[in-house]
Amino acid sequence: MLNEKQDRAMNDWLGLREKVCVVTGAASGIGRGIALAFAQAGARLVALDRDRDGCARTAEEAKGAGAAAVSFACDVTDPAAVAAAASETSNAFGRCDVLVNNAGILRPGEIATVSGADWNALMEVNLTAYLTCAQTFGRDMLARGSGALVHIASIAASEPQATSGAYSVSKAGVVMLSRQIAFEWGPRGVRSNAVSPGLVRTPMSEAFYHAPGVLERREAAVPLRRVGTPTDIADVVVFLASERARYVSGQEIVVDGGFAQTLMSHVPRPGFG
Ligand code: NAI
Repeated sequence: MLNEKQDRAMNDWLGLREKVCVVTGAASGIGRGIALAFAQAGARLVALDRDRDGCARTAEEAKGAGAAAVSFACDVTDPAAVAAAASETSNAFGRCDVLVNNAGILRPGEIATVSGADWNALMEVNLTAYLTCAQTFGRDMLARGSGALVHIASIAASEPQATSGAYSVSKAGVVMLSRQIAFEWGPRGVRSNAVSPGLVRTPMSEAFYHAPGVLERREAAVPLRRVGTPTDIADVVVFLASERARYVSGQEIVVDGGFAQTLMSHVPRPGFG
């Protein structure tokens, strides 16, 4: 017979069992991966997405893994829909312990020519909705004096790139939003951290891989020589949401197989090495 400490060590190392974990954008890609990782950790899952059928499928998969799970259709840019989802979460599970802000969009556009409407539409999903969800689901955490937020940013938060300037700016905003929340809510028992994925193959990026040779060129560009998977990102998110990261707040963890370390490889150095 295991004592409580041994049992915890054996079966709930993360301390997430029964924790109520809300994931936005849970229908697809990285969000789906995060949702299923929470389910495997024994958490109770709330899957949100504007894709009603997609997030319902994720919740069914989570139940298949033995977790309690619900899903709600929710456009995170609609504050009333987010408030309704928070109230449904409360009805279903009575609380919210973890929020993962993940729902995001990528749209092409250069800084010189991006229209105000396109800029605002992207900011609304990728940045303003992160604030709305943090405020709405954070209310319960602040009232109880405990909780954890994890925000999915991107290596684009730190590295400019061609033809998606608004996206990069939105992601830089996410990193600072997370740090600001860590600063403001830390004294009230709530942690906030960001995870910045590198190249991950998901429905968002899938079209890039349809061009010949892109997969091989991307693999060659990453020091670990492969493109990331949603599970690569989910494992880090689950750690940051867990009791094991209880003294980590305001941090950004880059999960990119080392890709962001390759800047110097672009410098021509004839005759050296
Ligand atoms: P995805 O397109 O596969 O999934 C995004 C999900 O968000 C979809 O299910 C979509 O329905 C949902 N969504 C979009 N707008 C929404 C809204 N207004 N309300 C509710 N749900 C909404 O994308 P992926 O790749 O899984 O991206 C997830 C996050 O990871 C995003 O924040 C993205 O910017 C970020 N990211 C992705 C990378 C990649 O290489 N795929 C790299 C770095 C960051």
